Amino acid sequence: MLADRVKKIVTSATMQVSEQAKKLKAEGADVINLSVGELDFPTPDNIKEAGKKGIDANKTRYTVTPGTLELRNAIASKFKRDNNLDYSVNEITVASGAKQSLFNAIMALVNPGDEVIFSSPYWVSYPEMVSLAEGKSVIIETNTEDGFRISGKKLEDAITDKTKLFILCNPSNPTGAAYNKDELEELAEVIIKHDLYVLSDEIYEKLVYDDFKFYSFAQIIPEIKDRVLIVNGLSKSYSMTGWRLGYAAGDQKIIAAMNKIQSHTTSHASSISQEAAVEALNGPQIMLEKMLSELIERRNYLYNELISISGIKCHKSEGAFYLFPKITSLYNKQLKIDSSLDLAMYLLKEALIAVVPGSAFGAEGYIRISYATSMDNLKETIYRLKKTLKKF
Ligand SMILES: Cc1ncc(COP(=O)(O)O)c(C=O)c1O
Repeated sequence: MLADRVKKIVTSATMQVSEQAKKLKAEGADVINLSVGELDFPTPDNIKEAGKKGIDANKTRYTVTPGTLELRNAIASKFKRDNNLDYSVNEITVASGAKQSLFNAIMALVNPGDEVIFSSPYWVSYPEMVSLAEGKSVIIETNTEDGFRISGKKLEDAITDKTKLFILCNPSNPTGAAYNKDELEELAEVIIKHDLYVLSDEIYEKLVYDDFKFYSFAQIIPEIKDRVLIVNGLSKSYSMTGWRLGYAAGDQKIIAAMNKIQSHTTSHASSISQEAAVEALNGPQIMLEKMLSELIERRNYLYNELISISGIKCHKSEGAFYLFPKITSLYNKQLKIDSSLDLAMYLLKEALIAVVPGSAFGAEGYIRISYATSMDNLKETIYRLKKTLKKF
């Protein structure tokens, strides 16, 4: 009955743990969910008000496919303000979440048989989207020791005459690692030399810590801009996951192709969400600072506690809201823990803590812990974790 393409893709491997977590919760268990990919803060009030105003003003009809002119102007101003990048409204397109922008971009760029390079641990949807486009994922492995970043040399070694696209997730989900300006420049030179395109997923742009300075891949050197398609969105920076609002900016020909695809699928992002998004981008940014200072406190607490546990190694995330500790030293024959999935299931059963196994991100031997939860929950997590690990 089903088409072959469905057989090629897998439902997220995170499901097994999250389904079990939901089941335990429904039975009344006090599960702490650290598997989530969304912030626990509400959408800021001014943004919610703009959405309500949009409804009252009957902004409830179809908009044009790439998004309202007002929103695309707000996005163009954001790029100028934050990244010193100039985009016209024809070089910007809005979608129902960054996920749709990424999907449209991959559909617009990848032919059957084209190779698409990205590093592991990767965001779960990249390989599945490449597979739906009948492309081939070429994965460069990274680890705690290299800070989950690839060098220009590693990128160059993965390039063949079939390579079309390089996907960069910066800062990264699931590792929280982020590339500095020099590291991006090294990658940019390889991209130009080999005449490739880059899909730069910058959805965690605003969530960077300490004195880390974020640079968009498109602003690194002047020659790279035309080769980069930036994908960004409001889900993470403005706590707006449910509003489904993402956007992309880049070469007008690619943007036009993405619009063509979107015009035959979802048409455009919700008109109400577009109204709210204008306020998010143009309005006061004070909430972001508050969220960031809380996230830094949580990251520092969780990181310091994790590395104090014997055998656990962890990269201190520069951004996003995840830590990705290496946990192979916790594998235990007697307890039948031989993989990241075994450990995640064990922690759920014994400590009522839900985390995501690294295997979901193509990285066996790690787990992803999200700190998009309260300090109280994180303190309780560490208490339970330490108590459980005493049995090892
Ligand atoms: C790296 C990365 N890219 C894209 C997305 C999709 O975001 P959106 O909610 O805007 O579709 C996510 C969401 O988890 C993500 O982590």
